[in-house]
Amino acid sequence: MTAADTRFPDGFLWGTATSAYQIEGSPLADGAGASIWERFVRTPGLTVGGDTGEVACDHYRRWREDVALMAGLGMKAYRFSIAWARVLPEGRGSVNTRGVDFYSRLVDELLARGITPMATLFHWDLPVALDDRGGWLNPDIAHWFADYAEVMFRALDGRVRLWATLNEPWVVTDGGYLHGALAPGHRNLYEAPIAAHNLLRAHGAGVQRYRSVGRHRIGLVVNLEPKYPAGGSAADQAAARRAHAYMNGQFLDPALLGRYPEEMADIFGDAWREWPQADFELIRQKLDFIGFNYYTRSVTRDDPAAWPVRTGRVRQKLATHTETGWEVFPDGLVHTLAWIRERYGNPPVYITENGAAFYDPPVATDGRVRDPLRVDYLHSHLLALRAAIDAGSDIRGYFAWSLLDNFEWSLGYAKRFGLVHVNYDTLERTPKDSARYFSRVVASNGAILSQPPHAFCA
Ligand code: BGC
Repeated sequence: MTAADTRFPDGFLWGTATSAYQIEGSPLADGAGASIWERFVRTPGLTVGGDTGEVACDHYRRWREDVALMAGLGMKAYRFSIAWARVLPEGRGSVNTRGVDFYSRLVDELLARGITPMATLFHWDLPVALDDRGGWLNPDIAHWFADYAEVMFRALDGRVRLWATLNEPWVVTDGGYLHGALAPGHRNLYEAPIAAHNLLRAHGAGVQRYRSVGRHRIGLVVNLEPKYPAGGSAADQAAARRAHAYMNGQFLDPALLGRYPEEMADIFGDAWREWPQADFELIRQKLDFIGFNYYTRSVTRDDPAAWPVRTGRVRQKLATHTETGWEVFPDGLVHTLAWIRERYGNPPVYITENGAAFYDPPVATDGRVRDPLRVDYLHSHLLALRAAIDAGSDIRGYFAWSLLDNFEWSLGYAKRFGLVHVNYDTLERTPKDSARYFSRVVASNGAILSQPPHAFCA
């Protein structure tokens, strides 16, 4: 393998990603309304260690320093999310200009440093005022979302030229409405398909609004995970198909093909419902790109007791697993991108998240944080991505998750995904070896991926 084999296309967008509630802190500052995460973390027992986003990485006050950090690492792009309740404290109605100004200043600073911003409008922090009206269960949320999106389009479009409507709607419904591990913490088979459908309608309404007021590019961010049958039995094969439809097809099929995968009715049974055709016309909008978050795969077997998809994950004994228990499996990126090409006609794709939580040693006396497993993870996944480009995928950029160690939702601060270490006592930032390595990858546009990575960390 030579440098020419691993170099990425000209203009490839390299960056890191974060989300508002996970890094900002000061969630109620300057007139912001509360989000459902603010409420969730206040309920004892729902997050590890009772952790909250009260301080997080204090990015709300240290944003300038964080942009300088990215610039120092040579990043070309940055994916962040906007906290809906900072902009509209009640979720709708009057605009809190101080909230808008925060993101406006951030974007100006990014542009001044030559970093291309990608803004996600919704990364799970729904305003509580809307949750009190039913949140994602209320069909009105489609236009609440579009109205909020329009405020941000009018404020930032032109300076921001890459927009994403929703981050991982599958996690919102599976974690928030079906299993209850994430805000708003419901556990209800009947609610999950309704929340999913309204997320999709909101996405459609947001894109539609963008076409009337925005001039650049907008897409949807989904997390996809290839599902492989554990064995050759018909039951395992069917289980893998169900798991695949549930996680990978549930949102992309309606958004891009205007229908749900047929397995959905089997999965939800009595709780599934047929939706009016007009809804699919709203949901299926022309998208400029798909944002694909990739972390792992799953090997699945039939498991009638696993509610409601009836599939179980089979842990691979010989594989490396991250601290969140996810198998490291770079080929899944290649396989999933092949599936996207075949099923959806090769749309432009950004890898909007990819990364791993590993145990990190403390900052050493020489100032380094040695995280060779994360370096390996980046190296192997970027080689896989390069292979997918060779196979014909139209990949426009890659965002490592995450710029900083941050609030990992119900796992609190226990899991570290950052390329940059955060000392949660002093809030000091220290680039890990993985940050230094990624910086070299970016500077060489992928050329150094042809060499073993650890030479750069010695
Ligand atoms: C989410 C992030 C999260 C990451 C690691 C993604 O599902 O978009 O917010 O921190 O995965 O779990």
